[in-house]
Amino acid sequence: MSIGPAVFLLVLIFIVSQYFKPTGKRKLIDGRSSHLPPGPKGLPLLGSLLDLKTGRQDPNHKFLWEIAKYGEMTTVHLGAKTWIFLNSHRVVSEIIAKRGSVTNTRSPMPIASGLVSRDGRSLILPQETWSERRRVMHSLLSGSALKQYGEWQELESTQMMAEYLFQPEKWYKHHYRYANSVVHRIVLGERLAKSTQELADLQNCVTFFVGSIGSSIIDWFPELARLPKVLQFWRAHWQSLGDWNYRVYNSWWAPIKKQVDEGTAPPSFVRDVLLNEDTRYKGDDQDCMYLAMQLIEAGSDTTREALNIMVMAMLEYPEAFQKARAEIDHICGYGKNARLPVLVDMDNLRFICAIAKEVLRWRPIFVATPDHVASQDIDFEGYRFPLGTGFVINEVAVGSECENSGAFDPDRWMNGHETDISHGLWQFGGGRRICVGYRLAQRSLFINIARLIQCIDFKAASCPILFITMSQ
Ligand code: HEM
Repeated sequence: MSIGPAVFLLVLIFIVSQYFKPTGKRKLIDGRSSHLPPGPKGLPLLGSLLDLKTGRQDPNHKFLWEIAKYGEMTTVHLGAKTWIFLNSHRVVSEIIAKRGSVTNTRSPMPIASGLVSRDGRSLILPQETWSERRRVMHSLLSGSALKQYGEWQELESTQMMAEYLFQPEKWYKHHYRYANSVVHRIVLGERLAKSTQELADLQNCVTFFVGSIGSSIIDWFPELARLPKVLQFWRAHWQSLGDWNYRVYNSWWAPIKKQVDEGTAPPSFVRDVLLNEDTRYKGDDQDCMYLAMQLIEAGSDTTREALNIMVMAMLEYPEAFQKARAEIDHICGYGKNARLPVLVDMDNLRFICAIAKEVLRWRPIFVATPDHVASQDIDFEGYRFPLGTGFVINEVAVGSECENSGAFDPDRWMNGHETDISHGLWQFGGGRRICVGYRLAQRSLFINIARLIQCIDFKAASCPILFITMSQ
């Protein structure tokens, strides 16, 4: 290459890399340079994007283990974004909880949030558009709502136990039906009566949405979304996914909305909070739909997965299983005198509560939480983080900050805080963004873990299906 084009190319690369300089390398508002914790150098422009991409497919989470070696905090540049991975309880508590008022926004995601979700999934919305949605959802955490929902949780759980009896080989499907129908009833007010195809479509919405997070280069270089639409070659693909998602959501939402409008809807979060005159959401109809449907999708998959992991743990650690069953027999009786555990037993069944926490620590459902982004420059222990820096909990590293971390040992949680699932555990995120369903989730896990351990003897079969017998 002659010298002219080579210089032109170098200048072009320089300009592009300056324009897309990662957030963490920019200056602070007062003109000081940033000062970040150590981390991998990464490639020019892309940073560690390729490593992150490979890491996402890796069941052993090598990438997360590797970056934790840098210390309590690790800086990782990813395209035009900078993430600080928080690798210890201490720094998570400092940054996510104590400084929650300035680390509760999210970075722009024109694809996953914009085109796929029509800016309706609060989970990944920035602070300005998230806070009104959060206000409305907050009632899900209130004591009176939890009491009402508790009755439905117990009822659906009883149905799940019956399903185990009649179709033990489909044990994991019963977990999904339970999780989906509880949250469906809470949000939309009706027991679940959907076809297999409708359920599959909704589950696909979650799968495609989660899959879209971080998978398009545009979400790592959000400025590219400012290009004229004719140049946005990626647009058609993601928009058609978003349109399909919209149609699936609408097919679930429209009948309930009609009932609410006609005054025939049963009690539900949608009728009594979201569309209620006193508390109603201040956005439009489409936003209401996304808010309601997001709750259903966020609440189903997570609870189902946690129950599946619990079964795996009970098979691998029979001594924990026996200890849990002894606790239940002691409180709920044995043989002919036995009764099913109920939610008010929580205070007395602390080992069961500890199992729920250990399930989430041992095999975390979220190996990294969504980014908690700084809404102002932050000075912290000698480091200077510019506005826009993202903080992400490295759940793999944080969850291993205990003795013999590879083992499933619920006793490690027997410390007086067993009944508070968020105490010492960051699986529900933290700060102002903490999972809005975490109390519901805790109660679902508790009631089902207790009942399954009381009633079922789990044994591994030679095929992937479990062999299950009923306890006497
Ligand atoms: C084992 C069960 C669950 C786990 C591990 C879990 C985990 C999480 C995490 C990590 C976040 C992000 C928090 C952050 O950014 O700091 C989140 C947000 C959220 N979760 Fe959960 N979750 C669970 C169950 C549920 C349930 C049962 C519901 C619904 C009833 C739910 C609804 C939501 C919603 C709507 C958000 C977004 C909240 C917002 O935008 O403010 N989750 N969850």
